[in-house]
Amino acid sequence: MTEETITLLGLESSCDDTAAAVVRLSGGRGAILSSVVAGQAELHAAFGGVVPEIAARAHVEKIDLCVEEALMRAGLALCDLDGIAVTAGPGLIGGVLAGVMCAKGIAAATGLPILGINHLAGHALTPRLTDDPAFPYLVLLVSGGHCQFLIVEDADRFRRLGGTIDDAPGEAFDKTAKLLGLPQPGGPAVEAEAAGGDPARFAFPRPLLDRPGCDLSFSGLKTALLRARDGVVAERGGLTRADRADLCAGFQVAVADVLAEKSRRALSEYLLLAPEVPVFAVAGGVAANAAIRGRLQPVCAKAGVRFVAPPLALCTDNAAMIAWAGIERFRLGLTDGLDLVARPRWPLDLGRPALIGGGKKGAKA
Ligand code: KG4
Ligand code: ZN
Repeated sequence: MTEETITLLGLESSCDDTAAAVVRLSGGRGAILSSVVAGQAELHAAFGGVVPEIAARAHVEKIDLCVEEALMRAGLALCDLDGIAVTAGPGLIGGVLAGVMCAKGIAAATGLPILGINHLAGHALTPRLTDDPAFPYLVLLVSGGHCQFLIVEDADRFRRLGGTIDDAPGEAFDKTAKLLGLPQPGGPAVEAEAAGGDPARFAFPRPLLDRPGCDLSFSGLKTALLRARDGVVAERGGLTRADRADLCAGFQVAVADVLAEKSRRALSEYLLLAPEVPVFAVAGGVAANAAIRGRLQPVCAKAGVRFVAPPLALCTDNAAMIAWAGIERFRLGLTDGLDLVARPRWPLDLGRPALIGGGKKGAKA
């Protein structure tokens, strides 16, 4: 491929992780030179969710330190960079502003170009950094803040086939853990409990499977779990370890069933484009769930599509994905100026109406 070398600093601050990374394109392949993520979980722990004001202040305090650390670990100085990529939305606006203002400060001081990155594009382009699929490929974003199927047509063109109309699956895992007295983040805790449970004991719904298309819904599942838990408690006066495991297993298999069936539908729509080497990639924290991956893999195998799952550290929020998305835009000549605007909402596919789901990150544009 090309001999061009591009080195970008990436910044991410749209939710509760402050992150900076340096990524280099060289010989046609991307390499992560450093990736620093400073979480804020302990700051929000007492509030049962991310508090936007607390998050914004923490980003302002930490972002410069993350930049210094990322440059130091990469062994580079600002003068070695070709530009600064920064998440410009969607997300909690105070946090997004902290990142954008930091990028503007560096750009003003150095004259480097800025690249405003859509956070969801960062997730959706990550497979290109790790596995280099050709366009178009299909991505399922599943995290605590997002849930959508996207066809990535090129680095600047995304087609949304469907998404959640209410909660993201990660939120449902977290809520399930809370209802059963398990620790946060709920996903890994529920997965561990589910391992010893009977998935058939409780009949949980498979929301929206009776409707055509790729939209998803998870809030009803949450309510069903609450009812089932209350039913057991009313009958027996409490939950045993086995009850908890069965509830987790039933919930997890319902999420996996829904994601598998909707993925099958998304794949058949994607395959109509007749991609030369079809690829289905997953991203987001929920993609760490082995039971869910285990359900998606055979769906891909049956459709003759390669299944790609980037390493977990690149599935969850990080700045390497932002730097990489910046490199993809830089190659297309899509740089921004000091007038870059921070956007709380920013749908990737402007041809489709915004998704209405609420949740940790606000609207899932
Ligand atoms: O992508 P992420 O780090 O942050 C955003 O939400 O953007 O995803 C975190 C979410 C949490 O809701 C967490 O419970 C869920 O991903 N998660 C899992 C697992 N590991 C993390 N959900 C199910 N199974 C897992 N093993
Ligand atoms: Zn994210």
